[in-house]
Amino acid sequence: MWADLLPVGRLANGGYQRFAWTSADMACREWFRAEAGTRGMDVETDRNGNLWAWLGEPGPDSFVTGSHLDSVPGGGAYDGPLGLVSAFAAVDALQTRGCTPARPVAVVAFVDEEGARFGVACLGSRLSAGVADPERTLALTDSDGTRLDEAMRAQGHDPAHAGADPQALERIGVFVELHVEQGRALDAPIGLATAIWPHGRWRYDFTGEGNHAGTTALADRRDPMLSYAMTVLAARKQARLADALATFGKVVVDPGGTNAIAAGVTAWLDSRAPDEATLASLVAAIEQQAAERAERDGVRLRVTAESVTPPVSFPADQLDWAAEVLGNPPRLPTGAGHDAGVLAAAGVPTVMLFVRNPTGVSHSPAEHAELDDCLAGVAALTDLMVRHAC
Ligand code: GLV
Ligand code: MN
Ligand code: MN
Repeated sequence: MWADLLPVGRLANGGYQRFAWTSADMACREWFRAEAGTRGMDVETDRNGNLWAWLGEPGPDSFVTGSHLDSVPGGGAYDGPLGLVSAFAAVDALQTRGCTPARPVAVVAFVDEEGARFGVACLGSRLSAGVADPERTLALTDSDGTRLDEAMRAQGHDPAHAGADPQALERIGVFVELHVEQGRALDAPIGLATAIWPHGRWRYDFTGEGNHAGTTALADRRDPMLSYAMTVLAARKQARLADALATFGKVVVDPGGTNAIAAGVTAWLDSRAPDEATLASLVAAIEQQAAERAERDGVRLRVTAESVTPPVSFPADQLDWAAEVLGNPPRLPTGAGHDAGVLAAAGVPTVMLFVRNPTGVSHSPAEHAELDDCLAGVAALTDLMVRHAC
């Protein structure tokens, strides 16, 4: 399965570019259909574009496992696909374990988990859970100005019925997302997630005055790049003081000429903290410092919250159930967002299973997991599947 998936959307540096509803994403979705087909699983595409492969008739109290196929810009091979390759491998392992499922088993691929193209993460699961407004979500645009509904239509998906999908979620008896761990917090082959930190994305638009780099005296400039640069440093310092995280990882400069003072800078703040109060005060402190600096620079600043996700605690009952089945692996919280978090927040019984990441690197071509740990992940996923479905 890896060999078929690895060339899809691969960049020259070994990273992956698989944005939602692009040809790379569609090739991944074809891979999913083919894997389901060889196992005799029927595939349905739900109203939001999530793919469900069913072993047996779809029905209540099913065991559902899966993750996502899309990537961040220049992402790694494991973030998302590991959960899907492992899910199909676990379905195969059912036979070896002599199990004929008494309950339905499904593999799900949630669409657009990373939010790399339209700016909001976990779009497929958020729409299905009814926490994303379909009208506003379908109107989101990518960097070329293409709307989400246009992107869906271009790939043959009708967006007319996008939105809350309680029937799809009510069938889930338990949802397990297996995922590569994305930090250095797990020093065992597998672990269980306890919680996801509150996090969000804020868009900073700095507007100044474009002008000539060779003739405009420093005193006469209204340079948004200065305000932006100081904001990046302020974010880092405030995050350190708050014992939290703040990152500017994406910036667009208008017009972006070497010999021109920028007219505008748009940058995106990603911030995460162990609790909501810390996150709110950190984000407010960064915005205040940015505003003060912008005023000194003669620059206009507008800050827009593009998505803010409250903390998630994975349900204790399922966590204890999984811990008992798996012999009490380590438990850990994470700063990374996941579809499993969206489902847990919507009341779906959910377990998040992590596979060790030896370097902790993720959202990078260098992301890696050792084969033995991946196999331990498949074995654990199979144990949970057998316990629920057989
Ligand atoms: C998902 O990968 C995130 O950005 O947390
Ligand atoms: Mn990710
Ligand atoms: Mn992921």
